[in-house]
Amino acid sequence: MKVDGVAWRSIVEDGPHAVRIVDQTRLPFDFGTRRLESCDDVALAIRSMQVRGAPLIGVTAAYGIALALQRDGGDAALADAHAALLATRPTAVNLRWALARMRSLLQPLAAGERAAAAWREAGRIAEEDVAINRALGGHGAGLITAAHARTRQPVRVLTHCNAGWIATVDYGTALSAVYQAHDAGVPVHVWVDETRPRNQGLLTAWELAAHGVPHTLIADNAGGHLMQRGEVDLVMVGADRVSRTGDVCNKIGTYLKALAAADNGVPFYAAVPSPTIDWELADALREIPIEERAADEVRRVSGRDGRGRPAQVTLADAATPVANPAFDVTPARLVTGIVTERGVASPAELARLFAPARAAA
Ligand code: MRU
Repeated sequence: MKVDGVAWRSIVEDGPHAVRIVDQTRLPFDFGTRRLESCDDVALAIRSMQVRGAPLIGVTAAYGIALALQRDGGDAALADAHAALLATRPTAVNLRWALARMRSLLQPLAAGERAAAAWREAGRIAEEDVAINRALGGHGAGLITAAHARTRQPVRVLTHCNAGWIATVDYGTALSAVYQAHDAGVPVHVWVDETRPRNQGLLTAWELAAHGVPHTLIADNAGGHLMQRGEVDLVMVGADRVSRTGDVCNKIGTYLKALAAADNGVPFYAAVPSPTIDWELADALREIPIEERAADEVRRVSGRDGRGRPAQVTLADAATPVANPAFDVTPARLVTGIVTERGVASPAELARLFAPARAAA
């Protein structure tokens, strides 16, 4: 996608021994990049949310393995890098998926062959992410186009968190659908949930502004009210882990939007690249590890002061007890459809949509 007319991806190779990422901790006020030269750099970037978003976390971790093996191609180095990266963030399954794919390719190789093979494979995972998101966005855009055909009015999409191009290598997931509908001339307006406490909605608003998509930032609590008043045509969110039966784990607050959508007859879609599907899960509510993040994310807000300088404000003092679960699970019964690179499936049809590929794997 473009920033000030220049095409960017969230992660690119920067020579043969480093990658360059868009540093998301600087957005939406500053756009800047950061060079990662080691597995430690990559682990820190994921943990500190310089890179974030399930698909991008997976791709970045794959490069982390490659960078580790450039220093040492041995079994212990591979195992250590795998363990260190896996421990960075627990919820998005793309991380486990990418690391498992790297390890199963690399483990059988001789130590001296691993670095080059790992670099190539990380590049393949990155390119696949772009192709998957382009394809699923096309299917999601079909839903927006169909809504427009019914109403002949701008389609009002509500989204939560950031499922845009910076949460992936390119295009995004939920926003890939929005961008492709917009680019095809379908009038669309996006209600952007602020998404406290990390305010990923500000990243979404920044992306949409850069692409010229009409949007309005709203407080997280506003969505139900807008749905009751008939001001939302569909909800489209991303996902961090989806079960084979279509339970959707996504940024905290998604479940409340799904409840409000169900109560108001608003279709609720999750845009899900296949590496976000956890085929091993039996019980999403019990088995998905929900990341508990730092209390200070809730106690404080960061932004700009009146002079445009970075500033933090304390909302609650250190004595205030805080809980900060970062994700929740929306049960399949509240999900109208899962938008994938293979098409849109009801939760019950999801496994069938991928059955041939899984049988071949
Ligand atoms: O905690 P984050 O910012 O890494 O959150 C992950 C997400 O970006 C969202 O939950 C998103 O909707 C799914 S990733 C496209």
